[in-house]
Amino acid sequence: MNSTQHTIKNPLERLPNPLLAWYRANARDLPWRHTADPYRIWVSEIMLQQTRVVAVLGYYARFLEAFPSVEALARADEETLFKLWEGLGYYSRARNLYKTACIVASEYGGQFPASYDALLTLPGIGDYTASAIASAAFGLPETAVDGNVLRIVSRITDCHDDIGNPKTKQAVRAALSKVLPAAVDDLRIFNQATMELGAVVCVPNGPPKCDLCPASDFCLGRLRGTAPSLPVKAPKKARQIEEKTVYLLVRGDGAIALRKRPGQGLLAGLWEFPNVPSVFDEKHAAAPLADWGLSAVEWRKRLTAKHIFTHLEWHMTGYVLTVSGDGPADFLWADADAFSRLALPSAFSKYTKESLSLLDTSAAHTD
Ligand code: ADE
Repeated sequence: MNSTQHTIKNPLERLPNPLLAWYRANARDLPWRHTADPYRIWVSEIMLQQTRVVAVLGYYARFLEAFPSVEALARADEETLFKLWEGLGYYSRARNLYKTACIVASEYGGQFPASYDALLTLPGIGDYTASAIASAAFGLPETAVDGNVLRIVSRITDCHDDIGNPKTKQAVRAALSKVLPAAVDDLRIFNQATMELGAVVCVPNGPPKCDLCPASDFCLGRLRGTAPSLPVKAPKKARQIEEKTVYLLVRGDGAIALRKRPGQGLLAGLWEFPNVPSVFDEKHAAAPLADWGLSAVEWRKRLTAKHIFTHLEWHMTGYVLTVSGDGPADFLWADADAFSRLALPSAFSKYTKESLSLLDTSAAHTD
């Protein structure tokens, strides 16, 4: 046999014991790892979808302080909930948290159902999250497969299948399900341990840290030298680009115009600066003002910004100007207090920052 061939039949069978020992000794101390309360575990898993641990920590603490139980969340008002979510992105998660809290409070007597299938029926809970909750909160033998887990399994088994293909995910789930530990205490942490390994050792960017890895003795990707080029992932489609002209409209009393986005679609129900879907140069930017029944008093500044969503980019040209008139009925003329209560998506952060500094200056003048 040449030295690059290795005949470890199923390296995954060898994973659980060293992985669990490594996790118990090395896992990061994260707040949701100190609880078996399904409510707290559920909130953490929803926040961690598409979001890094460091970005979640502060939001998680503030959220649980505001809503310490599923019943408290079911009583939330939308504005407070969105404000607590401001900056975290993917706002449909917050909307689904609320919907699920209402269902758990009203249909399950405030107790999360202790089964993968029942969890899966709740809004915002997909197969990964249902498995993560079922295992961590209830000690059930369910396998959670996210990008971290796809990467470690691709490397350990030297698998070159495209991880963007749902069939690959199913196969990884099935393979891991066969090697789950038996003890409930181990089941509670097994999924945490696979994601932890992917997050801190078998990392996505840069070379894997094989010298720290509990799987290094039997990892086929390491033994065959393929690990750094795994997993295989078909290139993503290019994001669609949307051009927008954004208006930071300041009224005579210093208030700034906001309006609520439609109840459906991207950033549904959040607040935004009035905007139109094309780029206008300075000469043409006044046209929408007339539609809104406003007239420009002073054009102050041009501010461009870009925001990247998963499938979409917004390229924004913004104008800061003082206007006369009150605009359409759906405009809310916001002062500093309104800005502190209303949730504005990060996509507009440059305009929000500018607004806060203008409001701050105008407050300083009136003091
Ligand atoms: N990513 C998704 N779930 C996670 C968890 N429970 N801990 C750390 N990172 C995660």
